[in-house]
Amino acid sequence: MDVDTNKLLNMGVLIVATLVVARLISALIMPRSGKRLPPVVRTFPVVGGLLRFMKGPIVMLREEYPKLGSVFTLNLVNKKITFLIGPEVSAHFFKAPETDLSQQEVYQFNVPTFGPGVVFDVDYSVRQEQFRFFTEALRVNKLKGYVDQMVTEAEDYFSKWGDSGEVDLKYELEHLIILTASRCLLGREVRDKLFDDVSALFHDLDNGMLPISVIFPYLPIPAHRRRDQARKKLAEIFANIITSRKDSGKSENDMLQCFIESKYKDGRPTTEAEVTGLLIAALFAGQHTSSITSTWTGAYLHCHKEYLSAALEEQKNLMEKHGKKVDHDVLSEMDVLYRSIKEALRLHPPLIMLLRSSHSDFSVQTREGREYDIPKGHIIATSPAFANRLPHVFKDPDRYDPDRFAAGREEDKVAGAFSYISFGGGRHGCLGEPFAYLQIKAIWSHLLRNFELELVSPFPEIDWNAMVVGVKGKVMVRYKRRELSVN
Ligand code: HEM
Repeated sequence: MDVDTNKLLNMGVLIVATLVVARLISALIMPRSGKRLPPVVRTFPVVGGLLRFMKGPIVMLREEYPKLGSVFTLNLVNKKITFLIGPEVSAHFFKAPETDLSQQEVYQFNVPTFGPGVVFDVDYSVRQEQFRFFTEALRVNKLKGYVDQMVTEAEDYFSKWGDSGEVDLKYELEHLIILTASRCLLGREVRDKLFDDVSALFHDLDNGMLPISVIFPYLPIPAHRRRDQARKKLAEIFANIITSRKDSGKSENDMLQCFIESKYKDGRPTTEAEVTGLLIAALFAGQHTSSITSTWTGAYLHCHKEYLSAALEEQKNLMEKHGKKVDHDVLSEMDVLYRSIKEALRLHPPLIMLLRSSHSDFSVQTREGREYDIPKGHIIATSPAFANRLPHVFKDPDRYDPDRFAAGREEDKVAGAFSYISFGGGRHGCLGEPFAYLQIKAIWSHLLRNFELELVSPFPEIDWNAMVVGVKGKVMVRYKRRELSVN
């Protein structure tokens, strides 16, 4: 052996020895259970994490999950985001109290849109009370009234279609859902008299929520200025409506009325500004999410004839049983349609990333038995878009298969709670889920019963760039009016 080889060998032995000693020291310092920090996504220093995230969080998850597993951390400039992917590791995310995992900091960017004094602008005790107002406004007795309005809106809207033609289904459903939401949530005054003004103002609010707004919600850019003006005008419009409702003493069946009549625990009634803010929050939570889901449902059903036939058969059976009547209880019997919507929403949850800010250390255990300690101060994230397609939870996960939710399979439950997270779950699970299903069912039961549709554009792609992730481009369908004949 020459001198160089010897030197090399000695260096090698030294490195190995150092590594062994370092490992031993860390084993002594670390707790006995061998807990450790989650693995970290390898990126370029400083801005590397941001660049990976900007390329698209789902792209990043697809690349890192197979390498790092269900728990890992991404360094995002001065923040650390820890991802918890899959039901085995996400219980804490959904169940933790606000003192441990909070929404307020991570969803702050909504404040200029929703306005002061509501939701993420108030502390948790007030927010909880405001969410109670939502719960009360969405109780079954209220939903029954909303359904009648949903059905009327759908009948009116589609009565304007001809006997046959071609339409952009995405545009049509977006439009119908704004009308229905206006009627059920914002109230008769807006729907009947102020619809154009109010929807233009909502449009400005919508366009004022850009990806950059998440980091700099008050950046002085034209879109934010228009957003702020629109919000002010909406507040004026609703203040007038609320005053005239109070003066006339007339009560309506809509969310506006519920919010006007809501009272905090100490007996204080809601202010006009709070009512406006809560209505805006409701519209932001429910409008795009529902219209996107309606479009995906239609696209999938019309590309999978077996499921379309099953949905049609169900409509025929219900017509035989109940005649042409469609109300809350009839919609609740539409199980095939329910599963068809649920499956479209599994494949395409519009809210692709849910976030929390952690205020205390916690540990998670992966399904492989690895334990990780996640220090306080991290942002904690989970992803419905990624977790809803995990192959160990959903069989053949990229396939549209509504039967996976049917009795006997119930893939959304088999792997445990928080397997299907399109509506979130646990402490902050969606309060509008029943409303959303009823609205989408009301639309599709009407379309199935009255029209034969055919998708004429290619199957839609996902618009990953939108804040609420939806359908890219137009979704052209050819329609022909028909009367569904009862068996
Ligand atoms: C297909 C339609 C919808 C989808 C996919 C959806 C999805 C979600 C998700 C994922 C969350 C949880 C957010 C988180 O954990 O950070 C949530 C919360 C919420 N949603 Fe929905 N939503 C829909 C429709 C609606 C509608 C129609 C309303 C009201 C009319 C609504 C009101 C709410 C509210 C108030 C919360 C907050 C609950 C809380 O934090 O306690 N949503 N929604």
